Amino acid sequence: MPAGSVLPPRYAVFGHPISHSLSPAIHRLFGAQCGVALEYTAVDAAPAAFTDTVRRFLAQAHGANVTLPHKAAAYALADLHSAAAHRAGSANVLTRQADGRVDAHNTDGIGLVRDLCERQHCELHGRRVLLLGAGGAARGVAGDLLEAGVDRLVIVNRTAATAAALAERLGPRAQARGWDALAQLGRFDLIVQATSAGVLGAGLQLPASLADHHTVGYDLAYGVGAAAFLAWAQAAGMARACDGLGMLVEQAAEAFALWHGTRPATDPVYAQLRAA
Ligand code: ATR
Repeated sequence: MPAGSVLPPRYAVFGHPISHSLSPAIHRLFGAQCGVALEYTAVDAAPAAFTDTVRRFLAQAHGANVTLPHKAAAYALADLHSAAAHRAGSANVLTRQADGRVDAHNTDGIGLVRDLCERQHCELHGRRVLLLGAGGAARGVAGDLLEAGVDRLVIVNRTAATAAALAERLGPRAQARGWDALAQLGRFDLIVQATSAGVLGAGLQLPASLADHHTVGYDLAYGVGAAAFLAWAQAAGMARACDGLGMLVEQAAEAFALWHGTRPATDPVYAQLRAA
């Protein structure tokens, strides 16, 4: 490095595994678009090493994104928590403040809502929504769906007690049901697939009665992890269904805005990733 030159601010995404992550490419594209110089890498951190590794990184860097399986640990290590992170009990964005304290934020839910409303043109206000799953991914988006005006959020999980605990935290517009009740629930305006079944290669048994030709389907996973749900959505005759690539780009744009004070245009980046 020549004398007097300034290193670009450092960022990284932490996960395990992480080699598949699109976050470095997304943040570099945002940086190029907005004229923001940055270094953004991917760090594979095993669960036992995550907290020490990310703390050491943040001592010399500006911020980190956090993905599976570290989002709850990221929340736990932070000194400050945004309302969205607090609601989810997990964080996908960590920012080092000027005084060295670490600030946790969760942009997954707002990323989903933006993709649904702005890219998929899906109305959420007053709608009846089915949320499949009650793990970390579901907790990250449930509160934002309600905040966006969803009238009724029915949470269905293989382990019914986890769905009940999540619904209780969310208030009266959320309701929990067991997997065996699916066939009696009638149709939904929107079905959000937030279990890890697709990513794990396990099938989901879903009755066709959940959907009709007005229903929109959304899988938080993208690529092969969403394939089984999208195939079911098509067979059930849904209006349309999509994977979580748009949410990934939107949650990244929210993190970029937190760090750099400017929100990039997401459509060109989404189009580039979709074409690839
Ligand atoms: P993530 O952070 O991806 O949400 P998680 O917190 O481990 O991961 O949660 C995984 C979710 O997928 C849970 O809701 C889990 O259901 P349980 O609470 O019953 O474990 C759900 N899940 C995983 N495999 C599933 C399967 N084969 N069928 C239905 N639900 C499944």
